[in-house]
Amino acid sequence: MASTKERLLEKKAKRLRKLKGLILSGGKGSRLRPFTYTNAKQLVPIANKPVLFYAIEQLVECGVRDIGIVVGETGEQIQAAVGDGSAFDARVEYIHQETPLGIAHAVKVARDYLGESPFVLYLGDNFLLGGIKSFVESFCADDCNCQILLQPVSNPQAFGIAEFVDGRVRRIIEKPAEPPSNLAVIGIYLFDHNVFAAVEQLKPSARGELEITDTIQYLIDKGLNVKAEVLDRYWIDTGKMDDILEANRIILDTLPSSNRGQVDERTRTYDTVILEPGARVVNSVLRGPLIIGAETKVIDSYIGPHTSIDHHCQLKGVRVGGSIILEYTTIEDLHWPIEHSLIGRYVTLRGAQAVGGSYSLTLGDHSQIEMPEG
Ligand code: G1P
Repeated sequence: MASTKERLLEKKAKRLRKLKGLILSGGKGSRLRPFTYTNAKQLVPIANKPVLFYAIEQLVECGVRDIGIVVGETGEQIQAAVGDGSAFDARVEYIHQETPLGIAHAVKVARDYLGESPFVLYLGDNFLLGGIKSFVESFCADDCNCQILLQPVSNPQAFGIAEFVDGRVRRIIEKPAEPPSNLAVIGIYLFDHNVFAAVEQLKPSARGELEITDTIQYLIDKGLNVKAEVLDRYWIDTGKMDDILEANRIILDTLPSSNRGQVDERTRTYDTVILEPGARVVNSVLRGPLIIGAETKVIDSYIGPHTSIDHHCQLKGVRVGGSIILEYTTIEDLHWPIEHSLIGRYVTLRGAQAVGGSYSLTLGDHSQIEMPEG
């Protein structure tokens, strides 16, 4: 006869086998304009990989193969980037949310896809370093109805905030004017089927959305088992440019060097440098950590720490640091360095003299800037 321990392990394995993923990848990304006029915010690359891909990879790492992606206006772009999921060893299906009426609304829309399965709800613009494996395992082992992850933040007015009484979560409040704690509920949640009864009875909040925080509150009020864990790792909601640049910095710090490109003998490299296939560097200084994408050319330039340059770019006679540059962008002959910038796809930036000390730019796709001699 199986021991209690064996039975518990079997129960955990069974729940894990049934677990699905639900990634939310809609929304307008209004805090990232002009960048998001042409790009889905979940496709902004961090260390040359869309932030959404990290979420998919982290689910697959836990053994989750069935992943539903809820998409809205930018659905076509998301679908073009992720495809059927086979590149990630997953089966991805797309669920259309006609209007962005909130996170809990997306769960409602995904009900048929999810069936009775427990699932991980992952907001596609959230970035968590080190993955979710330990949280998924404890959710499956404990057999709880909902598990949330918390992170202390300095601006609790901007998040869903948890209030604890006697070591248990008592209240979850969306963007409170007077926060009862600084513990933000991050955008990765685990639920069982009880969540559907909760979302069915929700009313829109003051901002006109069905809130995931109200959903969790309903589960708490019903006496269901809602578990909260405080994170031990780096997390960020990449909704704003500064946050994306910070996430880029953090991830570049964790990657090992690799050279699948070409560097000429006049180029000097320091610290972690990643060159993707076909990258070519001539007469330049590469001060890592940094990544240079496939088929990108860097000539007579200085690339500083925490910089990600995507594929098929051309940089000549420039200094860049702490920035993200997307694919097919050309930057030539700038007098002042580019720092702390997010530069879109197919941008042309040609310069000469300028009056400032450095450039800090947010340029959407297809921007064209020529700076005349000063
Ligand atoms: C959403 C949730 C909020 C949560 C946050 C995490 O906020 O409503 O409870 O703390 O994600 O990123 P939103 O991104 O809609 O402002």
